[in-house]
Amino acid sequence: MRENWVELERKYFFPVGKRLPITIVKGEGSRVWDEDGREYLDCVAGIAAVSLGHCHPEVVAAVQQQAATLMHVSNYYYTPPQIRLAQLLCENSCLDRVFFCNSGAEAVEGCIKLARKWGKENRDGAYEIIVAERAFHGRTLATVSATGNERYRAPFTPLVEGFVQVPFNDVEAIKMATTGKTAAVLLEPIQGEGGVNVPDDGYLPAVRAWCDEAGILFMMDEVQSGVGRAGALFAHELYGIEVDVMALAKGLGGGFPIGAFLAKEQCAAFGLGEHGTTFGGNPLATHVGYTVLKHIIDNDVPAQVARLGEHLERRLHSLADRHPLITEVRGKGLLWAVELSRDAAEEAVRLALDEGLLVNAVKPSAVRLMPPLTISEEELDTAVDILDRVLARLEAGTPK
Ligand SMILES: Cc1ncc(COP(=O)(O)O)c(C=O)c1O
Repeated sequence: MRENWVELERKYFFPVGKRLPITIVKGEGSRVWDEDGREYLDCVAGIAAVSLGHCHPEVVAAVQQQAATLMHVSNYYYTPPQIRLAQLLCENSCLDRVFFCNSGAEAVEGCIKLARKWGKENRDGAYEIIVAERAFHGRTLATVSATGNERYRAPFTPLVEGFVQVPFNDVEAIKMATTGKTAAVLLEPIQGEGGVNVPDDGYLPAVRAWCDEAGILFMMDEVQSGVGRAGALFAHELYGIEVDVMALAKGLGGGFPIGAFLAKEQCAAFGLGEHGTTFGGNPLATHVGYTVLKHIIDNDVPAQVARLGEHLERRLHSLADRHPLITEVRGKGLLWAVELSRDAAEEAVRLALDEGLLVNAVKPSAVRLMPPLTISEEELDTAVDILDRVLARLEAGTPK
């Protein structure tokens, strides 16, 4: 007899997550299958994590080979995989030093601690971090405190102090908020969970210039936008700037959990024993991360993402021309949102599911697409064709 996974989940889990009514059992490339053998085109990709698609042969081989060699020993010792990944990351970014952890929230948490330590040593104890409204940085207490969404913050007060919120895409607001207590600015180059908000081209360069002028750190949360997703290895590169500190996770592991934060030498303020982790940087995660990143770099996946992104942008705009329900299309690379004139995103997601497409309601009025970076143009066309039908049904009236 088949298990009733929905009922078991309801019985045993904290009811914190809203799941769609399918149980996924298998994946390959841009496709997943449910337990009834039904196929879906996956434009969620584990929330932008499954960068090379499901069960990519190189990733599977890396997991199998490293799992059979050495999974974990702790950071009391040197292990080659984590050092190889550290070198690859530093040689392909503007940063010099790395710390490995297990998730995006942990990576941003590390950045926050680093800014505080740096402020203590270099800016007279400055500890405040300027963050953006509608930002998302994770679910630990400090990252929730840095997050713009009140729904995620309100249940957990008192929050960690020292975060100053300003509107996104407004450099003057950052300037006004900067005081002697400011240690850093922390931004996503493109806000992911906040609705795929792309700033004006001049914003990040202007923030960079201001951080230099004010003598504060510019920290970039590239957990969602990084590792090829935006059409460059790291999204901030699209704006021709360097950052002082950067958080990564999601796509770096290709579906395997890993996080990392990196810093320039002059702000790598941690000393002996000041930060640590049991599992972070274990040989299994870092060997997989190395395999994913090396594949992305060697095959110039970011350039391919940029090309596919332009194609998707054209197709989504032509969808917007035909569907009055769409009020805006925004994104970069393979991270896009379709804004609707009403709160119909969840309905759209369900209708898409019926048609064999996984997309996500990033907010009540916006549908997000973030497929594997390896998706083909034909598969993107299929996704857009399905969205076309979904929008037509929504516009025609209450769906059945
Ligand atoms: C920009 C950004 N930062 C941090 C996080 C938190 O990452 P994790 O869920 O791996 O803790 C996310 C997750 O969506 C994110 O999009």
